[in-house]
Amino acid sequence: MKKPVVVSVMNHKGGVGKTATVVNLAAGLARLKKKVLAIDLDTQMNLTHSLIGDLPEDAQCISDAVTRDNVSLKQIIRETPIEGLDIAPSGESMVNLELELQSVIGRENRLKKAISTLDSQKYDFILIDNAPHIGLATINSLIASQYFLVPVSAEYLPLVGLKYLLKNVDRIRTEHPTIQNLGFLLTMVDRRESISTDVENILRETFERDVFKSIVRVNTKLKACPQRKQSIFDAEPPSGKGHTDYMNVTKEFLKRVEKLNGN
Ligand SMILES: Nc1ncnc2c1ncn2[C@@H]1O[C@H](COP(=O)(O)OP(=O)(O)OP(=O)(O)O)[C@@H](O)[C@H]1O
Ligand SMILES: [Mg+2]
Repeated sequence: MKKPVVVSVMNHKGGVGKTATVVNLAAGLARLKKKVLAIDLDTQMNLTHSLIGDLPEDAQCISDAVTRDNVSLKQIIRETPIEGLDIAPSGESMVNLELELQSVIGRENRLKKAISTLDSQKYDFILIDNAPHIGLATINSLIASQYFLVPVSAEYLPLVGLKYLLKNVDRIRTEHPTIQNLGFLLTMVDRRESISTDVENILRETFERDVFKSIVRVNTKLKACPQRKQSIFDAEPPSGKGHTDYMNVTKEFLKRVEKLNGN
């Protein structure tokens, strides 16, 4: 397997569980003894907040590593409290990322280039958390990735939005044909609600095997995790709902990567 495997977690719809999935999938992989780097490419800094808390005002962050030739990715990476999981955090200078990317040479390939400077044996997986819109940062994320994973909240019908997202990815694919869809992941599922089963049925009918079999059920414990800098694996016992769901997601993720890598 080519190391590291880079995965963009994306959906231009907000609040669908992108950040929660990056945190808990990364933590799940780390539990299975994989070495993982999570990259926070969202100005909202939710991933950074969830894993290590906000950075000091003048600290360098992923935005500096992507836009400045004299700041390396390695330099801005920090350890998290979760063993085996590091983070390339987002900080104050993230607000200028889109604007600064406009004027740098090779503006769509900057993140890929930054990742290529890391020791290739250091991480097994790099998961990138993206903002809920498609801009130069998201394009950098996709171009740096072998796979993209799309969390879809089961709380509303998202078909039009998802087709639009796939169209955008296809445009990038014309020049970077190696990016593959790792799958749609249903989040915030509540099978007692008809909207939830409707979304699930339609998604599975439309995208078939591109939808993860594993789902993430709605779970208030997941809401408390960011404040405590915990993953769901620390917040719940192994029998817990979120613990079970994200471990299933992690195992299916590994199987899907293995299958696509083999093809
Ligand atoms: N399975 C779940 N059940 C209940 N709440 C959840 C679940 N997953 C995530 N949440 C909560 O829902 C909110 C949105 O989740 P999250 O921040 O992961 O979404 P996002 O897609 O990253 O949002 P944004 O687009 O703003 O970056 C958060 O408060 C999070 O704690
Ligand atoms: Mg987020």
